[in-house]
Amino acid sequence: MLVLGVETSCDDTTAALLEDGAVRANIVSSQHELHEEYGGVVPEIASRNHQRLVVPVVEKALAEASADTTALDAVAVTHGPGLPGSLMVGLSFAKALARGLGIPLVGVNHLEGHVYSVDLDAPRPHRPFLCLVVSGGHTELVHVDENFHHDVLGRTRDDAAGEAFDKVAQLFGLGYPGGPAIDRHAEHGDPTFHDFPRSRLDDFDFSFSGLKTSVLYYLRDRPDTERNRLLDTHLEDLCASVQAAVVDVLVDAVRRAVEKTGVEHVAVTGGVAANSALRRRVEEAGTADGFTVHVPDLAYCMDNAAMIAQAGAYHLAAGHTSPPTLDIDSNLQL
Ligand SMILES: Nc1ncnc2c1ncn2[C@@H]1O[C@H](COP(=O)(O)OP(=O)(O)OP(=O)(O)O)[C@@H](O)[C@H]1O
Ligand SMILES: [Mg+2]
Repeated sequence: MLVLGVETSCDDTTAALLEDGAVRANIVSSQHELHEEYGGVVPEIASRNHQRLVVPVVEKALAEASADTTALDAVAVTHGPGLPGSLMVGLSFAKALARGLGIPLVGVNHLEGHVYSVDLDAPRPHRPFLCLVVSGGHTELVHVDENFHHDVLGRTRDDAAGEAFDKVAQLFGLGYPGGPAIDRHAEHGDPTFHDFPRSRLDDFDFSFSGLKTSVLYYLRDRPDTERNRLLDTHLEDLCASVQAAVVDVLVDAVRRAVEKTGVEHVAVTGGVAANSALRRRVEEAGTADGFTVHVPDLAYCMDNAAMIAQAGAYHLAAGHTSPPTLDIDSNLQL
């Protein structure tokens, strides 16, 4: 079974080929440089570039897998959540291709893609498992019983973890996307340099907007010369302190959820799962509390179409396909 995955929900144009669960090609054409000068993704620029890139990216995936379209058994495509214009490009392309080839179309929820991205790397977590999906737009703690039978235990009430990293990075003058820059600078910093707030809500929900505000006030309440000196001499310590605040909250929620549910396997997925401190701290918690930890390869943490093909293949195995009238849903939830 050869499934083409197409994912254009934000600013990466991506296509992948998955053959019986094995990734044969995973192509990502990132538009980050095009959006960098604006400090975030500009929807209009993103959708225009998806239009320019979607065909060459799919052709590149096919070439890498030495396959042509006649070998395809199905097309899986992200239909939400994401930027409407961006989603529309991928979905229109996928619909036309599936229709032209007379093969099934499968609409995939981008967040399901992030959840099942963990299965792209052996060994797959046994079911049930807990999945912490941490990305630019989402922070969700999901209890997965079996494929497509899941419960969202908690999610962010305001900013996502990745968004918090991106906004703080901007305050520190580190550009976009900020997560990787904070991670890099934090490597040799002191995480106890400043005690930024950790919001612990009663249930498994998260809140990261207070952290961003606290960094804003921390910088704003100082005279210009002192602020510049701080950013010059203690940038690494500040990045480490912010990173520790985010990671503490995430790891604490995972440990509490493991304790409450008795689940023995934990996955961490999405762009923020690339964060080195988060990866290390979840591993340490797993060793201390006796749960196994599954974090996908970096290529499968960031937006990618292999994860969409994976979730799509599971849908097909469960007998789910989508009608040709499938529409985008920019606010689709898990
Ligand atoms: N090493 C890192 N440390 C922390 N954050 C990181 C790291 N690498 C990437 N990120 C963050 O991951 C986010 C991008 O992840 P991803 O591509 O999964 O999100 P998205 O697709 O934009 O959002 P969503 O999946 O919610 O729609 C950005 O916020 C980025 O700053
Ligand atoms: Mg994503």
